[in-house]
Amino acid sequence: MRATVDRAGLDPQGRLPKVQVRRVRKGDLSRVKDVLEQTFGDFLERQLGTRPRQAFGGAQYVHHRWLMEPWGCFVAEEDNAKIVGTALAVAWGSVGLLGPVAVLTNYQNQTIGQQLIRATQEFFDENKTTLQGVMTYPTSPKHLALYHKFGYRPKALTALMSRVLDRNAPRPATKLARGPLAVRRFSQLEETKKKAGLARVHRITNALYRGLDVAKEVEIVDGLALGDTLLLERGRDLVGFAVVHTPGVSEAPFGTLYVKYMAVDPAQKRVEHLEQFVAAVEDLGHELGVQRVALPVYLRYWLAYSTLVRCGYQVDFTMLRMQKGKQEDYEDPTHLVLDDWR
Ligand SMILES: CC(C)(COP(=O)(O)OP(=O)(O)OC[C@H]1O[C@@H](n2cnc3c(N)ncnc32)[C@H](O)[C@@H]1OP(=O)(O)O)[C@@H](O)C(=O)NCCC(=O)NCCS
Repeated sequence: MRATVDRAGLDPQGRLPKVQVRRVRKGDLSRVKDVLEQTFGDFLERQLGTRPRQAFGGAQYVHHRWLMEPWGCFVAEEDNAKIVGTALAVAWGSVGLLGPVAVLTNYQNQTIGQQLIRATQEFFDENKTTLQGVMTYPTSPKHLALYHKFGYRPKALTALMSRVLDRNAPRPATKLARGPLAVRRFSQLEETKKKAGLARVHRITNALYRGLDVAKEVEIVDGLALGDTLLLERGRDLVGFAVVHTPGVSEAPFGTLYVKYMAVDPAQKRVEHLEQFVAAVEDLGHELGVQRVALPVYLRYWLAYSTLVRCGYQVDFTMLRMQKGKQEDYEDPTHLVLDDWR
């Protein structure tokens, strides 16, 4: 089976190919969600021996990702009728991220996954990303082989960490008040100030990797009220920011406040800033009445990881980061960054 991207294409015998890869359309969204959940449900059942009640613990990936990056979202469709696979991708400025990718269990090992990945590769090329990454399962030979074919190399693990919030902890703001910095919420900025806010956020990510820009993550969270972006400030200086998802229709699992991306400005990196930021997220968690805070940390950011361990965070599971492109080991172990590439 061969696939073509966004055009009908004929096979050598002049027939329509059985499976075609095309971009996601609005009407596909709930089917795409089903394909992801069904496929990951099957995969996790094989791995764990029991089927999880919800493949992603209530986290959602499809609707807002498609609104945020419609050109990066693909489906594989059989006979122009049945969606059998999907791959979502996003360009964070110069960094292209692939995933999730899923092909229905009965359709696997027929090259559909590769055709979907090829489509995301074209999307990355169109966007001139200089570095691409994917998060995958460290124990799977198939996943290693599959991404290797596209040039991705295995790097370090990402630890998905969490901490249960203590309901009897001191009221919000008391912990924060002890810190030297103030926390503001992006959603509370005047509309006219938001653009400047995004530029300040970009200044931080650009200092981490040239061209890295997560503005669209901040904007989609704001636009769809998926959570909020916390701005850590000293006077008029932005010291750091955190894109936080609240449970509901975001990437946060049930009952969990989830940090999608957090960074402290490399020029102002101090462990106390990260600690204060984590406390601010926990304060928000208390305020919202969630039970847990979940933070991802790539283990090359060893100082950030060590700080989270000291703050009482435990690893729930780990995933392997694979990367390719310019400066593929750009991460500085002393940078205070929490970034989830799922
Ligand atoms: C991962 C996934 C998307 C791949 O899709 P797929 O359509 O099965 O993949 P393809 O058929 O295009 O390619 C798989 C390749 O891996 C190879 N492969 C399979 N098992 C392998 C193994 N144990 N060791 C080495 N290579 C292996 C296949 O031979 C094939 O390569 P080939 O075409 O050169 O023979 C699919 O298996 C899936 O949905 N899995 C569950 C969800 C998931 O894990 N998603 C990815 C998360 S990062």
